[in-house]
Amino acid sequence: MYKIINSLLVFFILTACSPKSEKKYVGFIEDQDIVVDSGAVVSAHPQSSRIGVSILKKGGNAIDAAIATEFALAVCYPEAGNIGGGGFMLIRTSDGKTDVIDYREKAPSGSSRDMYLDKSGNVIPGFSTDTHLSSGVPGTVDGMIKAHSKYGKLPFKELIQPAIDLAEHGFPVTLRQAQDLNSNRKTFVERNSFKTAFVKDSLWREGDTLIQPALAETLKRIRDYGRDGFYAGKTARYLIKEMKRGNGIISEQDLMDYKSVSRQSISTLYKGFKIITVPPPSGGGIILIQLLKMTEPYPLKEWRFHSARSIHLITEAERRAFADRSEYAGDPDFVEVPEKQLVSQKYLNERMKSFNENHATSSLDLGPGSPEKYISEETTHYSVVDAMGNAVAATTTLNNGFGNSIVADSAGFLLNNEMDDFSVKPGFPNMYGLVGGEANSIKPGKRMLSSMTPTIVEKNGKLLLVLGSPGGSTIPTTVFQVVINVLDYGLSIGKAVDAGRFHHQWYPDWISFEKNAIDSLASDKLQKMGHSLKERAALGSVNAIMIFPDGKKAAAADKRGNNSSYGY
Ligand code: DON
Repeated sequence: MYKIINSLLVFFILTACSPKSEKKYVGFIEDQDIVVDSGAVVSAHPQSSRIGVSILKKGGNAIDAAIATEFALAVCYPEAGNIGGGGFMLIRTSDGKTDVIDYREKAPSGSSRDMYLDKSGNVIPGFSTDTHLSSGVPGTVDGMIKAHSKYGKLPFKELIQPAIDLAEHGFPVTLRQAQDLNSNRKTFVERNSFKTAFVKDSLWREGDTLIQPALAETLKRIRDYGRDGFYAGKTARYLIKEMKRGNGIISEQDLMDYKSVSRQSISTLYKGFKIITVPPPSGGGIILIQLLKMTEPYPLKEWRFHSARSIHLITEAERRAFADRSEYAGDPDFVEVPEKQLVSQKYLNERMKSFNENHATSSLDLGPGSPEKYISEETTHYSVVDAMGNAVAATTTLNNGFGNSIVADSAGFLLNNEMDDFSVKPGFPNMYGLVGGEANSIKPGKRMLSSMTPTIVEKNGKLLLVLGSPGGSTIPTTVFQVVINVLDYGLSIGKAVDAGRFHHQWYPDWISFEKNAIDSLASDKLQKMGHSLKERAALGSVNAIMIFPDGKKAAAADKRGNNSSYGY
């Protein structure tokens, strides 16, 4: 087991290890950063990473391991892991082919453009986030079944069984989870008509066992009946009953009609590396490519890591990318998203013509906005690579931490509050402060715009990086920074993930930054250029794998969460 201290050390280890000492890589290894020979899984909880690797060791491929990890996360990481939500899975098979499984939730058939507005046209506070009405039709189960039918090697039953065992017998909660569950206790009690598995008589403490019998039964139905174990039969009936109790609108027909979609990935070349990511209905991939292409002409390395100059450049690119998102991005099955134009070099050169190296552009010159709200955020990303070189980058979510905190009675799973990712009213900010317009307005059957950005990087046609992050609007800027930390600044993957981060999203018009991410010299200079700065809590939580030319894999789990790397 090796802690990655810096890239030099990694390369020293890789070149200096004799075949004998390489035996050290073999076996289960639990640590934040590891280097392994064969396969690796990095996810938000030690249990889910362990389960993913156990599938690899059984002969499953990266997609099998990803499916097992996703179901395990639904049990051991209820903050964001889910069967009641959705996500995006980017797959790159060892022959270099890519695929995106879009299992994003959809607006129910009974939804409408102004459903969260009162008679005077004002947004009703909390409606799109805290109620049964805030849930989109869940996509995760259909997405996993699609991924399995296209790429699975082991039987589906074997992939879901570890999650069933985890729900049935329980697992020890981490310290952070105990704190999350305790701080959400009041909400669980208020929003549910029965005592959920997440509420105990006493407060949670690290190491307490969380058992979820109803969830175990639902997972068994999915194991035994596949899609129908969730979208029909008992589980569907329980979910509809829960909807009726809380005036929700997801119908039986909505569940039957839900279909995940296989989409073509989008990609760009950046300084000789191929960056592969996800298309709409996530806006994250387009933003990532725009940021890379807008900053590519500038010598970031020469300007130095987090110097005022570099931060200013990146901020100005971010301002422009997020302004575009608000206008153009939405579900491509409903609106025409000018994807190609938005990422064309010609357009982006034009966009950066107004970039002034010495002054901040005012966001007012680019369009309207409104203030950011802070709320606890939770989504989760996991990365998987197998011994054959197949790779999966998947980001999945209920939106908020624990979604809307409503558990489908008797079915044991949490409901998402993803409807808030639609633009509930033009110009009105969602919980991440993002504003949007018609392209992301609510329509029955439409997918709400996402920021999730699972990403894969190739060098000379070979797999180099697999990564992604939670963080709402900050996801694409987080992924961007980790990519340039490796490609431009030459940091090891562990250092690249750990490095401090900053973020700008057009509106609100300020640079938010993690403690110590921007030093006082750079901060003074940025303020003189006209930028406002605001310190904030952690930005994102990246789980990444880097693949070396000799096939070894370094897995980096972000210390900002309970993320955990396993490999063998
Ligand atoms: O799809 C999206 O962009 C949001 N629902 C993601 C939410 C999120 O990342 C919250 N987490 N940290």
